Amino acid sequence: MTTADPTVEDSEDEPTLKLEVETAELSAVPLRVEDLEKRFGGITAVDGASFEVERGTITGLIGPNGAGKSTTFNCITGFHRPDAGSVYFDDEDVTGRAPHELARAGLVRTFQIARELGEMTVMENMMLAPKNQSGETLWRSVLPGTRDGVRDQETVNLERTWRTLEFFELDHLWNEQAGNLSGGQRKLLEMARVLMTDPKVVLLDEPLAGVNPSLEARLLEHLHELADRGYTFLLVEHDMDVIMEHCEHVIVMHQGKVLAEGEPAAIRDNEEVIDAYLGEDV
Ligand SMILES: Nc1ncnc2c1ncn2[C@@H]1O[C@H](COP(=O)(O)OP(=O)(O)OP(=O)(O)O)[C@@H](O)[C@H]1O
Ligand SMILES: [Mg+2]
Repeated sequence: MTTADPTVEDSEDEPTLKLEVETAELSAVPLRVEDLEKRFGGITAVDGASFEVERGTITGLIGPNGAGKSTTFNCITGFHRPDAGSVYFDDEDVTGRAPHELARAGLVRTFQIARELGEMTVMENMMLAPKNQSGETLWRSVLPGTRDGVRDQETVNLERTWRTLEFFELDHLWNEQAGNLSGGQRKLLEMARVLMTDPKVVLLDEPLAGVNPSLEARLLEHLHELADRGYTFLLVEHDMDVIMEHCEHVIVMHQGKVLAEGEPAAIRDNEEVIDAYLGEDV
């Protein structure tokens, strides 16, 4: 990407993320799993989990190490085929669909361990993000009216990529190999790539680990803005303060099952939850 000159307009403004689709039009319960099961040899990682995620929420998914949270994410987003149970996205049974198909439909995840392509630059990684097709169509339909007339799709994509990198405070690293970034920066790059696809339901697997506090606050604020517009987030996070402060609903997993769910305050005081976390701080 040495030929690209990613200049940006409005650079004195606080960086923001622009979405191509202004509101995510989905059913009231865009994500539902029923009796989900996943075994690895003798281990039952997910053992009959059922839950719903409401539209426009940041829902927390918590539980001690090994509870089955990441495996649940894998089953929902097509990285694992569940041994039993069903996944419904926007009221449609999508169990067993491939990750790229689900991503195109608007259901995506980020990984606990970021999966960037280390040999490529930050900008190249961003340009690989698959584009949501309806988003592109929508974008094209508004293009002729924008500021200085018609601009080609590539320029628009580049600008949007640049704005996204600015938001995630990765713009100064645009030409750096992704493998040289810190752990926190790699997570941000992954989240930036995912948000470039205009996802409607986003599963975030410990996205804040290693991210500096001011950026963490800005990211959370941004998630709330998106949620207010109908985007939906399921957040795995070990920092209970984040869960308590930012999630309207919390689902607790333990040994592959849903142990409890409810409002954060009720979850914090739930005896069974406290027992499950015995030895850990809640
Ligand atoms: N690919 C795999 N092969 C074998 N066992 C696995 C695999 N993935 C997960 N497991 C096992 O399944 C169980 C659930 O793991 P999972 O990673 O889903 O937990 P988690 O809730 O995400 O934990 P953490 O909070 O530590 O990330 C664990 O016992 C884990 O060792
Ligand atoms: Mg995990």
